[in-house]
Amino acid sequence: MHSTILVTGGAGYIGSHTLVALLEDGHRVVVLDDLSNASPAALARVGEIAGKPVQLIRGDVRDGALLDQIFAMHPIDCVLHLAGVKAVGESVANPQKYFEINTQGSLALFSAMQRAGVARAVFSSTATVYGAPEFVPLTEAAALRPESPYATSKLAVEYMLAGFARAHSWRAINLRYFNPVGAHPSGRIGEDPLGEPANLFPYIAQVAGKRRQILSIFGNDYPTADGTCERDYIHVCDLAAGHVAAVNYLLNHAMPGECPAVNLGTGQAYSVLQVLAQWQATCGFDIAHQIAPRRAGDVPSYFANPAGAQSLFGWRARQDLARMCADHWAWQQQNPHGYNAD
Ligand code: UFG
Repeated sequence: MHSTILVTGGAGYIGSHTLVALLEDGHRVVVLDDLSNASPAALARVGEIAGKPVQLIRGDVRDGALLDQIFAMHPIDCVLHLAGVKAVGESVANPQKYFEINTQGSLALFSAMQRAGVARAVFSSTATVYGAPEFVPLTEAAALRPESPYATSKLAVEYMLAGFARAHSWRAINLRYFNPVGAHPSGRIGEDPLGEPANLFPYIAQVAGKRRQILSIFGNDYPTADGTCERDYIHVCDLAAGHVAAVNYLLNHAMPGECPAVNLGTGQAYSVLQVLAQWQATCGFDIAHQIAPRRAGDVPSYFANPAGAQSLFGWRARQDLARMCADHWAWQQQNPHGYNAD
């Protein structure tokens, strides 16, 4: 079935890869993005890869009048809500921004969906809603202990969406992402962080690409096998495929009122040193690094039990760490300054 999907935040890192996957699966897409952390060049390149132009509506997800207009003009079957802010550290310093954009923005969107009678939604949530886990792997039933305003702002939206789904018989899903990395194998779209990267993969990529001098490894005295933190890294194209599987499930199989939370991870954890070793193997040279103090708020180790996504909508991650590094490195080499050159 060919459907029209509204993708908020569609020009961003996860959004752009998800658009490619949706278009390749035969869906039509409408993108709402304010371009605060994204480039229109990403959408042009999505159009190039998929062989179809992508329409951008530039605007803020909190703009109710704009949302009403979008829903009046386009026959939207499902909303993929990816727009939001995502820096954990910034959220501690400026919680207001996180509740305004993430939480209020989602309320404005869900309210406009309700006015327009649009009754399917996928929300981009995060594994940080689990906080420091008692047990790994993490199933969706694990305790929720969000530790930052970022995580709280996302968890509030999960509850909000579940409330709308139950009250108005929507079909909805909260997707809890683990650590998305990598890039489209074409090297044409990828992660383009503003300023100094806050995350491991883009930082390593920029050191490997000689844009930054040295990687700091934040702590090597954690209770893990090699002392560095372990995470469940997932190829962004696998993550994108997970969104398509979730959308198709909502369109074809879901029951009205349901709103499960679903992990998108691989089920496999790698330490910072293991990731660095794979990057060095991929690049074929040493990447400058030093041990630095721990970063506040880091949890030693966590990874997903991804069985929920497999049983609910038949999805599992397929790409390994070598592929994540190779694709991320190809993107970095082809676009040393991100989309800036466009
Ligand atoms: N790390 C370094 N050096 C760096 C950057 C990161 O050693 O320069 C380490 C971190 O200390 C951590 C690991 O690499 O141990 C991964 O860090 P990331 O910042 O890449 O990822 P996080 O697990 O901290 O968080 C990410 C996103 C969040 C999201 C979360 C979901 O930043 O937005 O994954 O689990 F919510």
